[in-house]
Amino acid sequence: MIEISVKAGSASKQRDDAVVLPLLEGRKLTESGKELSEVAGKTIGSFLRKFDNSGDFGVSHTLYDVEGTYAQRVELAGAGDEKKLTLQKLRALSSKTALKLETSGARDISLYFPELNVRGATLADKVQAIAEGVWLGLYTFDKYQTKKKENKRALRSVTIMIPSRKHLDEAEAAVAAARAIAAGTNLARDLGNEPGNVCTPEYLGDQAAALKHKKLKVTVMDKKAIEKAGLTALLAVNQGSAKEPRFIVLEYSNGKKGDAPVALVGKGLTFDAGGISIKPAAAMDEMKYDMCGSAAVLGIFKAATDMDLPVNLLGVIPSTENLLGGAAYKPGDIVTSYKGINIEVLNTDAEGRVILCDALAYAAEKKPAEIIDFATLTGACVIALGSQASGLLGTSDKMKRELKAAGDHTHDRVWELPLFEEYQEQIDSKIADIKNTGGREAGTITAACFLSRFVDDIPWAHLDIAGTAWNMKGTDISPMGGTGAGVRLVVEYLRRKVK
Ligand code: BES
Ligand code: MN
Ligand code: ZN
Repeated sequence: MIEISVKAGSASKQRDDAVVLPLLEGRKLTESGKELSEVAGKTIGSFLRKFDNSGDFGVSHTLYDVEGTYAQRVELAGAGDEKKLTLQKLRALSSKTALKLETSGARDISLYFPELNVRGATLADKVQAIAEGVWLGLYTFDKYQTKKKENKRALRSVTIMIPSRKHLDEAEAAVAAARAIAAGTNLARDLGNEPGNVCTPEYLGDQAAALKHKKLKVTVMDKKAIEKAGLTALLAVNQGSAKEPRFIVLEYSNGKKGDAPVALVGKGLTFDAGGISIKPAAAMDEMKYDMCGSAAVLGIFKAATDMDLPVNLLGVIPSTENLLGGAAYKPGDIVTSYKGINIEVLNTDAEGRVILCDALAYAAEKKPAEIIDFATLTGACVIALGSQASGLLGTSDKMKRELKAAGDHTHDRVWELPLFEEYQEQIDSKIADIKNTGGREAGTITAACFLSRFVDDIPWAHLDIAGTAWNMKGTDISPMGGTGAGVRLVVEYLRRKVK
């Protein structure tokens, strides 16, 4: 991660490779820009009069050798209509700017973005968003490209310029939070982007075990231990795979002693071929991302431990591949789960709920205060919500309300789908307790209905991240591939509990 720090000071005095000033719609400069323009002779004013940059959001121009400055470049970064600014736009602006200046060979840059007014946002919110934008936007996953071009003048440091020294402490705390959150998000992205032959259940276990904090305990169960524990539904899905499953339990006890933890459960399906109910070949490679629920959980643990968040967390990750073979579980099989509920398997491709049900029942047994699960669970959710929001379903209105608020703040957004009781009958089975599919209608909801049978009466929220966990085009703050969806959302949700 590159260095990000905060400082106060005027733009004309900075010796960076680039001083970045926001330019608002109508070619309006903010405070520092106006001040610089006054000492810079005619350069900035005359440039602005030439209409090359009207201040449209995302359009930026570089001026070299501006009179009266020490910086190599002055970058005018279009920020658009100030009334329409949001924290997400600030992230996008920072990400774009960092990427552009990096390719132009600027190594040390300072950003005057905190001067922008964002409705409802504090200075700390803005500084955090700017730092997140830089760290998330510069993320790359290129370790397998042996011929990649080495950038000899890669970005080295970013200074976030704030209007007054008296806010240095809060701004520094905001950067520290952003650092932990970006590290957690980028860990989740890495895990998603690793191919299925590398990111196996064993690998996920190793990654969990590699998280270090004096209040964190990680237990990784191998197949023998899973058999002994009786996690039989996970074992059923694992039957078709030559690789051993893993069941990962993380306990982070940094909150009040005796306070029940928040349980985080994540689907760790390291490759989903569909099993005997095999998927079509087109885009099947994307099913390496089917462990992004577990990646979100590990990313949240990484962020929470990095920032020493004073909370108690229980993490539970069931992990296996879903493949085909002579030993694979089959349509028609009846699988007895850890909880004792008998599942009629009608489609082996609805495997996520089958492994999650054991993890949810295991988590519920530990009597957590609440359970949040993360899963790339249904194609139906991609159809319903696309890539802009994760599906949210659950039993606790309070949790759902707070998750929505955290989602809007972080732009790691959620949208609720109903869990009406009437949907439950779609998964009634004629010969077992429940079926693992509820038919074509309301596929995201009936998947959640299935999960709901395993959480007892513990307040529970389910996040279907099938549409948000990866993005083949890339987003404003993420290159193509894993996005780390769910990490920023739930870290914010947890931080709000201890504020
Ligand atoms: N991992 C998939 C869900 C998925 C599909 C995520 C496409 C992202 C993109 C899941 O295991 C699955 O296959 N679900 C089935 C369930 C169906 C058989 C009831 C689905 O959504 O088609
Ligand atoms: Mn599947
Ligand atoms: Zn799956």
